[in-house]
Amino acid sequence: MTKTTAKYAKEGTVAEHGMPSAPKGMGRVFGPAPAEAVTYRWDPFPSSVPAARRQLREALRGWGLADLADDCVLVLTELLSNALAHAHGPDPVVSTRFSRLADGCGVRIEVHDSDTAHVPVRDSGGGADAERGRGLLLVDACTARRWGTVLGATGKAVWGEVAR
Ligand SMILES: Nc1ncnc2c1ncn2[C@@H]1O[C@H](COP(=O)(O)OP(=O)(O)OP(=O)(O)O)[C@@H](O)[C@H]1O
Ligand SMILES: [Mg+2]
Repeated sequence: MTKTTAKYAKEGTVAEHGMPSAPKGMGRVFGPAPAEAVTYRWDPFPSSVPAARRQLREALRGWGLADLADDCVLVLTELLSNALAHAHGPDPVVSTRFSRLADGCGVRIEVHDSDTAHVPVRDSGGGADAERGRGLLLVDACTARRWGTVLGATGKAVWGEVAR
């Protein structure tokens, strides 16, 4: 267990579960399979995004929720890209947690980062022609506004839920 994962687990925001087939060197897998939730810690570089997408698609297939993949992948891409681009700090830590909702008809996507000084701000201005500030508007649409931020003492989780 890494320090960060232990920290979040203690706060009750991330459980430890795993999947059998994380790509070598990209996401580190915690715990045994099969799982109702999967947690990965990622290298804080843009190259982690496609690897995280693949893991999410794999989790969705395993849960029989592949029909939600397009919306889920979009939400993950925006939240993880935000964590990589906007979260600051001397020792950035970024992780993801994917979990199946209790009724089995949806998925919760969480992206954790170690920056408590900055939080996501939806509709940061600029209107329809803005070059930036579109990501959270897309998250809003794909999650039917079921997304938010949970601030902890040493990090935060930005989450979104996609359901049938
Ligand atoms: N994980 C995060 N940590 C800190 N600040 C964040 C985080 N996610 C989002 N933000 C803040 O919220 C703003 C809005 O995010 P949003 O994704 O909508 O736009 P963007 O990332 O600036 O541009 P785009 O996603 O369109 O390329 C960001 O500019 C940033 O200031
Ligand atoms: Mg963004």
